Amino acid sequence: MKLVELETQLSQCDACAFRKDCFAPVGWHGNPESPIVFVGEGPGGVEDQYGCPLIGPSGQLLDRALWAAKMTRDRVLTTNIIKCRPKNNRTPDIAEASFCAQLWLEKELSIVHPKVIVALGGVALHYLGNADMRITRDRGQWFRTAQGYDCIAIYHPAYLLRLVGHDLVKAKWDVYYDLIAARERAEKLAPGYQFMSEEPTKLFTLYKKRY
Ligand code: URA
Repeated sequence: MKLVELETQLSQCDACAFRKDCFAPVGWHGNPESPIVFVGEGPGGVEDQYGCPLIGPSGQLLDRALWAAKMTRDRVLTTNIIKCRPKNNRTPDIAEASFCAQLWLEKELSIVHPKVIVALGGVALHYLGNADMRITRDRGQWFRTAQGYDCIAIYHPAYLLRLVGHDLVKAKWDVYYDLIAARERAEKLAPGYQFMSEEPTKLFTLYKKRY
């Protein structure tokens, strides 16, 4: 199966209660050939509106961090653990996250078969690693997912958006070096792959409001 076919199936999903509170599921964006996949938590309001993962404030910060680490959104693949925006942007619990991820994320990963996964924040870390892992302690450490993918967790950009002063500066450097480590490992495992285009991807010209 191809990612585009999976996307058609995803658009029809109503397997859990999140579906009735959002406009529609949000899938993935980027290059299905990418050796690196970034996994966020789930769509927020802007993502629900545009139908693109990580296009709102968190995504814009991610894009700047990716650019600094020599990656662009068109050359990597970005996706989420859950596909439907929870009401009031509530954080999904581990059971909700697993239910959706087993239906969709696992299928995406088995099509893309990335060399490296980057978990953005705690929800992705808990699903891809385990519930005892802590983002503040375990970010930047390589581990293997249950399906055998090499994975590294970084701070979620929404977390950075809440920090100020020294904490913010330190967290930004942590993200920068973790992203470099992720790109370097993916580069080693997929020699010759171009992780960066000449310009940052303009997501708002690619996606129009759905409502
Ligand atoms: N938007 C997303 O698509 N994912 C996140 O994790 C946060 C915002």
